[in-house]
Amino acid sequence: MLIEDFKLEKWINSREAITKIDLSATCPKALSLTELTKITGEDFSKMLDISLNYGQLHGTNRLKQAICNLYENANLDRITVTLGGIGANYLVLQTLVNKGDKVVCVCPSYQQMYTLPKTFGANVELFFLKDDWTLDIDQFKAVVGDDTKLICVTNPNNPTGMNFDLTSVVEVAKSVGAYLFVDEVYRGLNHSGYPYSKSAVDLYEKAIATGSMSKTYSLAGIRLGWIVANPNIIEQINSNREYNTISISALDDYVATIALENHEKIVERNLKIILENKKIILNFINSNSHFSWVEPNAGTIACINFDYDLTSEDFCASLFDKTGVLTIPASCFDMNQNFFRIGYAMDSQMLQEALNLISDWVRKTY
Ligand SMILES: Cc1ncc(COP(=O)(O)O)c(C=O)c1O
Repeated sequence: MLIEDFKLEKWINSREAITKIDLSATCPKALSLTELTKITGEDFSKMLDISLNYGQLHGTNRLKQAICNLYENANLDRITVTLGGIGANYLVLQTLVNKGDKVVCVCPSYQQMYTLPKTFGANVELFFLKDDWTLDIDQFKAVVGDDTKLICVTNPNNPTGMNFDLTSVVEVAKSVGAYLFVDEVYRGLNHSGYPYSKSAVDLYEKAIATGSMSKTYSLAGIRLGWIVANPNIIEQINSNREYNTISISALDDYVATIALENHEKIVERNLKIILENKKIILNFINSNSHFSWVEPNAGTIACINFDYDLTSEDFCASLFDKTGVLTIPASCFDMNQNFFRIGYAMDSQMLQEALNLISDWVRKTY
């Protein structure tokens, strides 16, 4: 079975190898084991003695406990460990969605959240945020009905970088008894700092949340994610997981455990990068009247609006051809608006260089 193109991945894949500066990346500057040693004090030479057998099939209890500690009401029966956040999302949707189900997805979103339900035969309705990236709750209530089986949300949101209060979405889901699936891979990166926002699973028993080491914890290279839900849902997901994941890597399990046991220090390091770099973008926007944004309040990404008479795809393609700066057009999120998405939790100098290239290019061209 061929799945519809993942637009964002196709856009990146065809350009990544010849990119000069990559503003498409969404992970904060990745950690090395040397840096992780400095942050956590752990001696990673212990890894030399880890048996390279299958890891513990569903993740070690120590890892699962470290994941539980990120939630108010989690315990080991409510967790399963997966191959990345993308693997977690796939398993949730494959388990919950059947042919003919009505699924409402809050958009813009990570494409997996609506294309997979469509692929599994659901009738999918896309409900778009307003231009200021807030959710019109009255209109949302009108779209969600008694026949809605599942509501899908990415929060903090990709691509907008906004964290919205889930309480009203939970109320709507509760009122019709729908499952609420929230991709929370950017949770913890609130620009206002601690504490973490409440997870959907701490608000509603029919909520399912996914998390990952890639974004909040800067460890995309270990490919480790997880699902949190009530034990019945986890049991169903684990039945499907047998066909998809024998175990996660024992090395990944160990590195993730140490990182999560020190999560506050990693989040502090990442927020420092994010907040510094946000100032650089603010400066860029303030000195270029053709660009604007709704300032993000969480995560590592932002949508930059432009007022040139070009589609988002033409804008990003020309920008890339002329400067080598890779950004993501709104069209990759099934939107016609004039914006492009950037990831900005990268090296500050590179970010500044990329924004200078963009400024110079628009000044010379338009
Ligand atoms: C919202 C969202 N969910 C999931 C993923 C996949 O993350 P992972 O690297 O954990 O597989 C991404 C990656 O960009 C993402 O932005």
